[in-house]
Amino acid sequence: MSHSGAHIIAVGNEKGGSGKSTTALHLAVYLLHQGYRVGTVDVDSRQQTLTRYMRNRRATVDTAKRDIPLPKHLYIPTAWGDSISENQVAEREIFDRSLAGLREEVDFIVIDTPGFDCNLTRAAHGMADTLVTPLNDSMIDLDVLARFDEKTGEPIQTSPYSRNVQAARADRLERTGQMTDWVLVRNRISNLGSRNASEVQQTVEQIAERLGCRVADGIAERVIFRSLFKLGMTVFDPLEAELLGATPSMSHVNARQEYRSLVAALRLPVRLPVPVADNEPAKAAQLSA
Ligand SMILES: Nc1ncnc2c1ncn2[C@@H]1O[C@H](COP(=O)(O)OP(=O)(O)O)[C@@H](O)[C@H]1O
Ligand SMILES: [Mg+2]
Repeated sequence: MSHSGAHIIAVGNEKGGSGKSTTALHLAVYLLHQGYRVGTVDVDSRQQTLTRYMRNRRATVDTAKRDIPLPKHLYIPTAWGDSISENQVAEREIFDRSLAGLREEVDFIVIDTPGFDCNLTRAAHGMADTLVTPLNDSMIDLDVLARFDEKTGEPIQTSPYSRNVQAARADRLERTGQMTDWVLVRNRISNLGSRNASEVQQTVEQIAERLGCRVADGIAERVIFRSLFKLGMTVFDPLEAELLGATPSMSHVNARQEYRSLVAALRLPVRLPVPVADNEPAKAAQLSA
């Protein structure tokens, strides 16, 4: 890494329900269990899914009285003044200040972004060392990346989201000399191995080549994610009924393996393991929202 401070992972896709918040939490908790100090940032002021996830996690940890790691979580609120441009400036200031502070305290920062274009979405994409874009596993949902020829099905034009990402990457490259590593991942794959699935995979790979990004192996559709959300847990936490809200199953084990493969595919920088004592402040950190 050429800069000092935390490695920043943004999770983005201008589409709701593609699995951004779920992925953000899983990445953060995976890194915590590796012994890293981790910060999480929620810039999705409408849904606040990651913030709710963290509240649920804290409640579960308190109830179960278990030593389960929590990231240092920050929530960036929306400014509600009359002037849009003043709001944008104010939001951006809070974002920049929060990130600059957090960056000195942790090894990794995971930013969850909303499913729409706004100045904070752009700011987050512009800061990312690594950008992860979960994609719902259907041809229709690929329109977030590209437009397709109706007859041939070939991708013919990049979408507004792809263009925003490319602009953010170009801007960051100019500012820092570093290219954001953009990784696409299919999520909620229900029909592994079927014709449609391989069509989606092939198309994603075609698009990735055009966009200069990479494709990681996907995450399957699984009902376990619902109860995990309610308890703020992930498949990287201890596989115990009390923490999972369900009997531990092969679903949990398999999902753990898939998320591990995803992290491996991200090729995150390796940091020296932090001694456990150094990790305490992160555990004790208060939710800011
Ligand atoms: N692999 C998966 N299998 C089943 N449900 C999933 C999976 N990934 C995410 N979900 C569910 O899909 C919904 C949307 O996920 P979320 O992470 O909130 O998406 P986003 O942040 O992109 O809007 C949530 O209810 C979540 O539990
Ligand atoms: Mg979300």
